[in-house]
Amino acid sequence: MHKLLLKGGLVVDPAAGEIFPADILIEKGKIAAIGQDLEASEGTVIDVGGRLVSPGLIDMHVHFREPGFEAKETIATGSRAAARGGFTAVACMPNTDPVADNRAVISYIRARAEQAGLIKVYPVAALTRGSRGEELTEMADLKEAGAVAFSDDGRPVSSAAVMRRAMQYARMVGLPVISHCEEPTLSAGGVMHEGYMSTVLGLPGIPAAAEEIMVARDIILSEHTGCPLHIAHVSTAGSVRLIREAKARGVPVTAEVTPHHFTLTDRAVAGYNTSAKVNPPLRTEEDVAALKEALADGTIDVIATDHAPHTVEEKDVEFQLAPFGMVGLETAVGLVWTELVIPGVLSPVEAIRKLTVNPARILGLQDGVIRVGADADITIIDPGLTEVVDPSTFASKGRNSPFSGKKLQGLPVATIVRGRLVYDRGLLAVT
Ligand code: DOR
Ligand code: ZN
Repeated sequence: MHKLLLKGGLVVDPAAGEIFPADILIEKGKIAAIGQDLEASEGTVIDVGGRLVSPGLIDMHVHFREPGFEAKETIATGSRAAARGGFTAVACMPNTDPVADNRAVISYIRARAEQAGLIKVYPVAALTRGSRGEELTEMADLKEAGAVAFSDDGRPVSSAAVMRRAMQYARMVGLPVISHCEEPTLSAGGVMHEGYMSTVLGLPGIPAAAEEIMVARDIILSEHTGCPLHIAHVSTAGSVRLIREAKARGVPVTAEVTPHHFTLTDRAVAGYNTSAKVNPPLRTEEDVAALKEALADGTIDVIATDHAPHTVEEKDVEFQLAPFGMVGLETAVGLVWTELVIPGVLSPVEAIRKLTVNPARILGLQDGVIRVGADADITIIDPGLTEVVDPSTFASKGRNSPFSGKKLQGLPVATIVRGRLVYDRGLLAVT
């Protein structure tokens, strides 16, 4: 395989917390050297022109819909969307059809990702059969097949007994449990955040308590079982408080927030905009402020998109009937930069840490670092580049973005996986 030299970039080392000017030489898909004035006798040279050279970004929460819902997204289109969004690896959730609750589906997902041949796709296996919340899956078998975590994401595990048993087994197997926190008797029938806006719009609400009760329950179960617990898509100030307190006590809990939850409030639903229908729902100003504070103080470890594509036909219906979910892969970096880095909520290194080393550590991956000998997974980010979001340009099949028309600054311009350029915005000189 041939050589690739990235010249004149600012290398971001999120593990060390540093940004420094250096060239990177890639050979046989691995990082061969990092240093000043590197030369390549053969192969391709990319002039990075002072842009940021980050470890490949990892999105630990996406829905690629295959098998079963290929009209919404396939592993191939999802992989393209990921590459275009600057992601070199994703973890995909098991709410496919059939559910990824057995070895065959996990192997199928990995094979399809291999065929797509763009990015790394790490499957998350279901916690319970059919994600019905009743019987546990064959966890050891699923790990052996390549699963990196267990989750019934998209559906709550309503039984505390089932969740406790799942954590006991997951701990033995050595993989984390990712919890979609939603108390179903409180969320039942709800389509948006319960509050002033839901009253004004006359829509049934999902109270903050529906999330917080389950965050509290799962923290307690994590503490008692010792199982690493990762809270998916945290959306409320109350959840943040519970996670902060649990971490302070040493409970092995981590948490993620999505770009839409740190950017938008329930006001985005005004006009019955189904692009803003998502679960957990968009909350209030106070919640957004608490999520930003939690990002800044480290209570929230990870930024993940919950990329959830749906077809135009499915979303183009009455608000109550539309499915929950929005696409996120192709706007994530721009939203992180525009909403967090430029306003100073996070430094560039801190932001990148939540998109690389932190998700890698939680999932037990070797990815997320720039180090000699590591896979050459790299994202080049131009912090000055701007664009207006236009869903018709997405590589994803999904068009369901509430950010259409929003101006973003700070965008990925090239994505490299195992030394291969899988996305190139066309701004870099390649010779
Ligand atoms: O909005 C959502 N969409 N939330 C989820 O938990 C599931 C996801 C989906 O699969 O569409
Ligand atoms: Zn999800």
